[in-house]
Amino acid sequence: MSEAVKDLQVGIIGAGTMGAGIAQVAADNGHPVLFYDVDDRAVENAIVRIEAGLQKLVQRGRRKPCQVSNLVSRIQPCTTLSALGQCGLVIEAAVEDLEVKKQLFGEIENICGDQAILASNTSSISIDLLAEGLQRPQNFLGMHFFNPAPVMKLVEVVSGESTSKPAAERIYQLASSWGKVPVHARNSPGFIVNRVARSFYSEPLRLVQEKSATVATIDLVFRECGGFAMGPFTLMDLIGNDVNYAVTESIFNAFGGDSRFQPSALQKQLVDAGLLGRKTGHGWYDYGRDMPSQNPSKSDSEAPESITVHGQLGMAASLVERAGEAGIGVREEPGAGYIDINGVVLMMTDGRTATDISAQLGEDVVLFDLVADYAAVGHIALGLAQQNGERARDIATGFFAALGMTVSVIADTPGLCLMRTVCMLANEAADAVHQQVCDVNAVDDAMRHGVNYPLGPLQWADRISPVHVKAVLNNIQAAHGRSQRQEHDRYRCSPLIDSKVMQNNNFYPEAGSHE
Ligand code: NAI
Repeated sequence: MSEAVKDLQVGIIGAGTMGAGIAQVAADNGHPVLFYDVDDRAVENAIVRIEAGLQKLVQRGRRKPCQVSNLVSRIQPCTTLSALGQCGLVIEAAVEDLEVKKQLFGEIENICGDQAILASNTSSISIDLLAEGLQRPQNFLGMHFFNPAPVMKLVEVVSGESTSKPAAERIYQLASSWGKVPVHARNSPGFIVNRVARSFYSEPLRLVQEKSATVATIDLVFRECGGFAMGPFTLMDLIGNDVNYAVTESIFNAFGGDSRFQPSALQKQLVDAGLLGRKTGHGWYDYGRDMPSQNPSKSDSEAPESITVHGQLGMAASLVERAGEAGIGVREEPGAGYIDINGVVLMMTDGRTATDISAQLGEDVVLFDLVADYAAVGHIALGLAQQNGERARDIATGFFAALGMTVSVIADTPGLCLMRTVCMLANEAADAVHQQVCDVNAVDDAMRHGVNYPLGPLQWADRISPVHVKAVLNNIQAAHGRSQRQEHDRYRCSPLIDSKVMQNNNFYPEAGSHE
């Protein structure tokens, strides 16, 4: 890390979790830091915490002792706001309260020089509301770090209506020089990450409410099939169901009650019952008890001798290569993109239910869910038509077992589990771009570096293909019934996905899906 002292003096207001992390990042990058909190002891405690955290890195050989002492010596506590007068940048990370923050910025603007940039780390308050009444709103913006700030790479650089381009660009370049991944975002509810991530929780919550799959199965599918570090329910328990519910509710209200952000009644029940997650020892999981097994079991169903592939399977084409490698005979015939095994049709979900497709085709249909990479993933979720018996299940599980894959059989749900959630993530990401909150690269970078998604939602949309994403959304919409207006609105396709379909284009037209 940089040892040279940089010219820019940075002021940090608020010495809680975020303020301490941001102070560490700035000092680590050579800036003299002035650290203020309304509570003097909070600053002292924060500096002790910073030093203790860094000492652990020394013990692991990842920092030298002199680096730690130099870093910590650059952080100077101060007991009055007026001490921040020489700062060229002040980052506010005080409590999430509009009036507290407005008061602070009103005062600090009179203390700092005309050129100073004032930034708020707020995660939910409008940058335009905070800028109201400021004399130099052009120098004010959001600088949204993620927790823990020294570890998480993303910084959302949020411009309000009055923020000047040079101010936003300076903060973008500064964050970049700190080794962060900055993204430009226009002020709007939830900025990028907290808005787009809503579907990661709300679709799985609906799946549980609709009795499509259990909490443990959904978490397993997200980890094993989607490559997510954590399933949505494990993550909700870690964040706290109360905090997670409150963020959803605030974004739902900020978007005027848009059904896409509808808070979950099921999650509210948990909150009301005090089942907040890890912090109370019980949430979606009971942490005092043995956790339910999340290890998929192997099927002992027999492998088929041969399969017939009808038409193109799109992103699932590598299943056929895996079948060939497993010694299964492969015949190819024209058709609408499915695998036939002894009269059982295996198809990637397109948002219709297996039951509906079975009724149309007059054949036994088994749907398989999205996985991140059909060439490599070892687990897959399946949905069977209601009238399917043991035979279809045996044939499908036997096929995937021969490919070295375990399966979770879940209810016959429109869009199944991962496909439905990923299409909704992509839809929201596309709408954020369509509404000029950010660009395509920014939304993908934000989700990869702010919440560690293995792939950006629009990279994922390219992998699935915008045509298929649109089909999934439209079919889910139809399956829920056009009479249910809320459901109809919820699954409406973003105009940007529509236009990609019309132009036969991808989000990354040159490079295909960039990794
Ligand atoms: P926290 O509760 O850990 O710390 C808040 C600090 O602000 C406390 O030390 C408190 O004494 C101080 N404070 C209160 N009023 C003040 C005032 N008038 N002047 C100076 N200091 C004052 O809060 P946390 O979690 O660090 O959050 C701070 C800000 O960062 C909030 O706006 C929050 O929304 C945002 N944020 C929080 C994230 C998180 O994961 N905790 C992530 C990203 C943003």
